[in-house]
Amino acid sequence: MIDPSKPDLEESVNVTESHDRVLRGAAAASRENKLTENGAEPVSMWVMALCFVPVLFAGWTAFGYGTPLFSYKDTVRTGYVQVIPPDADSAAAVPEPAVLVYAKKGAKLYSKCSGCHGPDGKGDGNAYPSLAGSEFANGEHERFAMIVLNGLTGPSSTGKTYGVMPAQGAGMSPEDLACLMTYVRNSFGNKVGDVVTKQMAGEALKISGARAKAGAPVTADELNADHKKNLPGDILAPDTLIDPITLEPVAAK
Ligand code: HEC
Repeated sequence: MIDPSKPDLEESVNVTESHDRVLRGAAAASRENKLTENGAEPVSMWVMALCFVPVLFAGWTAFGYGTPLFSYKDTVRTGYVQVIPPDADSAAAVPEPAVLVYAKKGAKLYSKCSGCHGPDGKGDGNAYPSLAGSEFANGEHERFAMIVLNGLTGPSSTGKTYGVMPAQGAGMSPEDLACLMTYVRNSFGNKVGDVVTKQMAGEALKISGARAKAGAPVTADELNADHKKNLPGDILAPDTLIDPITLEPVAAK
């Protein structure tokens, strides 16, 4: 009886040889390419490479340096300078008198103050003093700057105590402070007429940082003892024409 589940070990069968044949058959089958549709057979790499030669040659004759289809000399005029058209911002940068430019910018920053001192700067006569006619706002720059940067406690310039004004200097650049102060000094009926420049405001930030009681609101006593003076820095005549973006003076055209 022949058991089909057992190898046939008859003398005539070379088991090693047949095993080898089976392995080679399987390897060959796995190397075989998949059948592809007619026309979709892969193209030989060499045929592809040869096809690129005329393409490269055509490109070289048509667009190569110095060839008629692309000649830098013929398409770009000698002495050509690209002109960049002015954008909306710089087109609007018509020089204006310094006091106007500073006050216009300051008007936008006054939103920091209007909640307490009112949009008209008149305060409410009760909890918040008026900035119109205020001695601290209209007098020497340095007192005003110290109030904005540090806040104020105790009596106001009129002697009346309203409460405590919190410091407003957080995140304020010299330019912001300068514009804000110039705005207040020339609005709400105030007519000081001068410009607090960004250089002066920069000095104010230094002076404020060097206060003995840095961080605490100033008092009227401290203001009058230490800060009753104008900020150092060159005076900018209010009608000097300046660039509304850089705030730098421009030569009159
Ligand atoms: C949270 C409310 C509040 C805000 C915001 C505020 N202030 Fe005041 N300010 C006061 C109070 C209150 C006083 C009075 C403090 C006192 O009685 O000592 C005062 C006083 C002043 C004074 C002194 C007035 C004087 O004549 O004595 C000036 C100047 C001033 N503020 C300017 C400003 C400016 C500029 C801003 C905006 C950057 C501003 N304040 C934002 C509440 C405020």
